[in-house]
Amino acid sequence: MFSNILVTGGCGFVGSNFVHYVHRNHPEVHITVLDALTYAGNLENISSLLSHNVDFVHGDICDDELLDRVVPEHDAIVHFAAESHNDNAIVDPAPFIRTNVEGTFHLLEAARMYDVRFHHISTDEVYGDLALDDPARFTEHSPYRPSSPYSASKASSDMLVQSWHRTYGLRTTISNCSNNYGPYQHVEKFIPRQITNVIDGLRPKLYGDGLNVRDWVHTDDHSSAVWAILTRGRSGESYLIGANGERNNLTVMRAILCEMGQPEDAFEWVKDRPGHDRRYAIDATKLRTELKWKPMHTNFEAGLRETIRWYIDNQQWWRPSKAVTEQKYRAQCR
Ligand code: NAD
Ligand code: DAU
Repeated sequence: MFSNILVTGGCGFVGSNFVHYVHRNHPEVHITVLDALTYAGNLENISSLLSHNVDFVHGDICDDELLDRVVPEHDAIVHFAAESHNDNAIVDPAPFIRTNVEGTFHLLEAARMYDVRFHHISTDEVYGDLALDDPARFTEHSPYRPSSPYSASKASSDMLVQSWHRTYGLRTTISNCSNNYGPYQHVEKFIPRQITNVIDGLRPKLYGDGLNVRDWVHTDDHSSAVWAILTRGRSGESYLIGANGERNNLTVMRAILCEMGQPEDAFEWVKDRPGHDRRYAIDATKLRTELKWKPMHTNFEAGLRETIRWYIDNQQWWRPSKAVTEQKYRAQCR
C-alpha cells in the first residue's frame, strides 16, 4: 500500500476528482499535487483539501530540478498532467508534444532515478477510432493507431512508459480511459460547453453530423479504477477503463437540452473537427475480471442531471474561462 503519492495534473478535471476520491476513501494517504496551473488547471478544485493531508507544489513536469526535489519523498506517481483538448492540438500541437511526450519522459527519468512506482493516465484515443457499424470494441490487444496530434502525443507517452518498464524494470501500469464527465470539467469540452451555452443563452454547437460516438464514464468511476490499478494492477500491464456508456453526440446534446427545458433542436450544426474520430468503445473485461472493478454511476442520464446542476450552482467557477474559450472557438472558425 502507498502512503505518500505524487499526483501530477491534480488541479485539472480528472486529476482533481481523483484527489478528492483518494482523500474521501483513503484519508490516511498523503497526496502531493504537482501542477503548472495552465489555462486548464485551477487550484480552487482542491483548495478545500489543502492542509488535510494534501499539499500543493506549483511547477512544471519538465523541470528536472523540481522533480529532483519533489519525487524522492514519494512511493508512487500518478501522472495525469497533460494538454488534453483535441481542438487545441489541431490549432497548435507544440504544447502537446512538450507536456505529454517530453513531460512524461522527465517524470519517468525521475521515477527511475528514485525507484518510484509509476501509474500513467492515458486515453482510449491511442487506438484510433471504430466505424459506426463495427460491433468491435477496443481491448488491451487493439493496435495503436492514433489519428490526431493529441492522441499521437498520448500514444507516444504510453510507449515511453512501456519501454521504461521493459528496459529499466520500472514498476509501471497504464490506464486507457474513455470520455469522462462530471464536475470541474473545463468549459472547452463538449458537455460543459453545451450546458454553459444554454445557461448563457448561446446556441449549443454540434460538430459534423453529430453521429460520432463517445463511451461516457463518470469521473468518479475513472478514479476508483485508477486506484484499483495503482494498488492491485500487475506491473508492466495496461488496463482499459470504460462503463458501457456509448452514445452519439446528438443523443447527448438532446439529453442536455431536454434536462435544461429547451426544445430538442435548439442547437447549431457547425463545421466538423478535422480528422474527427468516429467512434470509441471500450471493452473493460480485464479490469472487471482481474481487479473486480465495477462502475457505480451506471445511469448516464442521472449523472448528466447532477453535472448540469453542478454547473448551474458553480457559475463563479467556470465564468472566468467561458468568454475566453468561446473567443478561441470563434477564432478557429475563421
Ligand atoms: P485537464 O486539461 O482538465 O487538466 C490537465 C492538468 O494538467 C491541468 O491542471 C494543467 O494545469 C496540468 N498541466 C498541464 N501541463 C502541465 C505541465 N507541463 N506540468 C504540470 N502540470 C501541467 O485534463 P483532464 O481532462 O483532467 O485530463 C487529465 C489526464 O487524463 C490527461 O492525461 C488525459 O489524457 C487523461 N484522460 C482524460 C479523459 C477525459 O475525458 N478528460 C479521458 C481519458 C484520459
Ligand atoms: O476518449 C477520451 C478523450 O475524451 C480524452 O483523452 C480527452 O482528453 C478528452 O478531451 C475527450 O476527447 P474528445 O475529443 O472525445 O472530447 P470533446 O469533449 O472535445 O468532444 C466530445 C465529442 O463532442 C467529440 O466527438 C467532438 C464533439 N463536440 C465537441 C465540442 C467541444 C461537438 O460536437 N461540439 C463541441 O462544441
